[in-house]
Amino acid sequence: MAHYQWEQQLDTGIDTFDQHHQRIMEYANAIFDAVKYNDRKKVGQCLDLLLEYTVSVFSYEDNLMEQSGYPYAEDHKQVHRRFTAKIANYRDRHLAGEDISRQLLSDLKIWITNHVQRDDRDYVPYVRKKFSTSWFMRLIGKKCA
Ligand SMILES: [Fe+2]
Repeated sequence: MAHYQWEQQLDTGIDTFDQHHQRIMEYANAIFDAVKYNDRKKVGQCLDLLLEYTVSVFSYEDNLMEQSGYPYAEDHKQVHRRFTAKIANYRDRHLAGEDISRQLLSDLKIWITNHVQRDDRDYVPYVRKKFSTSWFMRLIGKKCA
């Protein structure tokens, strides 16, 4: 059984966002398993993939926040930048031989429960309002169609 389980209160109501967040949770679970089996190589691989993935999805979400007129977009983008910088730092320290596993897993759990559940939900109404009648909303979230 996976360590981190998706729970309904993590749903934003927009499929694409939820898929992004679920993928981040999958990386967190893969890292948890790699740590459990003391597989340092796998931890490094997962960190590389997580970093690559977060850079990509945050760029997508930053763009949507801006287009939807979300008033706290700049603050939220800063939070995204700090998180990717933190993951990059963990990756570098891991490569240097440091055991970062406990801190990393703790930060991932905090990210999933706090950022996804609170911060990301905050801008969803702006995205819905801006794109509610457009083809784009139908594309990213059938729950809002
Ligand atoms: Fe976010």
